[in-house]
Amino acid sequence: EGGGARVAMAQTTQDIIGAGLGLRTPVWGYGPADGPGDGPARRGGAPRTGTRVTYPGPTVVARADRPVRLDWANELPFRHLLPVDTAIHWAYHGTRYTIEKQGVPTVTHLHGGHTEPAGDGHPDSWYAPAGARGQRFTGPECAYENTQEAATLWYHDHTMGLTRVNVYAGLAGFYLLRDDRELALIEDNRLPGGPYEREVIIQDRMFYPDGRLAYPDAPGASPHVPGVWADEGSEYFGRVIVVNGKAWPYFSVEPRQYRLRLLNGSNARFYRLSVGGKWPFPVTQIGTDGGFLHRPHRLDTSLVIAPAERVDLVVDFRDVAGKTFTLTNDAPSPYPNGTPVTSPTDSVLQIRVDRKYKRDTPEPRLPRSLREAPFKVGRPKTRTRRLLLFKTTDHGGRKMPMLGTVEKGKLAWLDPVTEKPRLNSTEVWEFYNTTADTHAVHLHLVQFQVVDRAPFTATQDRTTGALTNIAVGKSVPPGAGELGPKDTVQAPPGQVTRVKAFFDKRGVYVWHCHMLEHEDHEMMRTYEVV
Ligand code: C2O
Ligand code: CU
Repeated sequence: EGGGARVAMAQTTQDIIGAGLGLRTPVWGYGPADGPGDGPARRGGAPRTGTRVTYPGPTVVARADRPVRLDWANELPFRHLLPVDTAIHWAYHGTRYTIEKQGVPTVTHLHGGHTEPAGDGHPDSWYAPAGARGQRFTGPECAYENTQEAATLWYHDHTMGLTRVNVYAGLAGFYLLRDDRELALIEDNRLPGGPYEREVIIQDRMFYPDGRLAYPDAPGASPHVPGVWADEGSEYFGRVIVVNGKAWPYFSVEPRQYRLRLLNGSNARFYRLSVGGKWPFPVTQIGTDGGFLHRPHRLDTSLVIAPAERVDLVVDFRDVAGKTFTLTNDAPSPYPNGTPVTSPTDSVLQIRVDRKYKRDTPEPRLPRSLREAPFKVGRPKTRTRRLLLFKTTDHGGRKMPMLGTVEKGKLAWLDPVTEKPRLNSTEVWEFYNTTADTHAVHLHLVQFQVVDRAPFTATQDRTTGALTNIAVGKSVPPGAGELGPKDTVQAPPGQVTRVKAFFDKRGVYVWHCHMLEHEDHEMMRTYEVV
């Protein structure tokens, strides 16, 4: 409701695996900081542990137009939970930095937030417990204006070259933004609320037999755990599905409607969700990443959700009292042309409609429309940018996906900024995907409109990736589930995906693929609103 809070990041242990094994997994989480006297972990000392932090982090609930300040206190230990690949960018690029001396660097990004550059969690604004700072460090306190509509946002670590391992260690949580329209819908009993509204974060992990998190020590390295790498190492796929911090949990529900705020918080895994290929109960999508759809959209096929995407659902269990279902996943990894899913990653969670119906809360009646008109970025575009998704190899011969422009070809993180939209201008960004996989393209600052997609052919320079002789085929409108505000879009292979955005804050932001191994290994670029 406005105001501020101090949030600590620290190590704790949790029973993630369950199954009565009693294994405690060391994880990193967020939680309320103890107070002003609470210092960072000591160098060389034992990591600070405590039950005040949790993985996933606590859900922040904020109100539109009521600014919130969060002071993110880095109390992470002086040893990473996971192997850190020092051959790719990470916090020390340009500095002489070691985790043993400085502690684990972190910086928090509010994903989907309409945030000033200073509090946006730029990858180079990291800071370490012992005092080292990234070159864009502006302070551990972030101001969130909340000048946007009700949305399922989330916060997570965004440290240069470490995001994949910091998020994998647990640094992610929900940030639900409420506005008057949404509160009126809940008040008028048009949406499930209270205990019937739940956040659901889906992730994939691997574990050692003692419960510790497992992660390979480098992209393309021989895996420590058999089977963790696909596609010869440009992304990571775990084989244990973890939902809300529990491996393959069950969700016990009453035979009534629930609102589920779904987030794919996995590093790289896409999910194609259903109950064995169909929906044996009605599932209606009401919102996208950054707000409501105009009209509720009843799902009749599986739901594909890419890393960092959110889907706001109303699920109706009224006619299935007493039944048990398994939410299944049949997405290949990488998506959509990779290895077909096999057991056990074809199961996500179990739904048991076994709770007694509580009569005192009446069933909501979904409205015909959730907003006045379909979401649109209204102003005319001033510019179209043709951007490139390209897969190449790094100095060590490892596969490395990159971004760039169609004209120049691939561009690295440290190459000069090429995307400089003018303040208060509207642009169309076209993502020409010349790789074999769908990527999850995310822009900071904005909620964009997905315009369309079209197949294309072109002549590509093998070294730079630059395209000539581009022929674009017939365009296809976005799916019904993409018609709300979006900040992350699926860019399929062989297609150009177009989004339209209004850039209304001056300063330096980033855009990147949200498959975290891609983001950390050069598939990220700076953009600047000028
Ligand atoms: Cu979810 Cu640039 O991040
Ligand atoms: Cu990618």
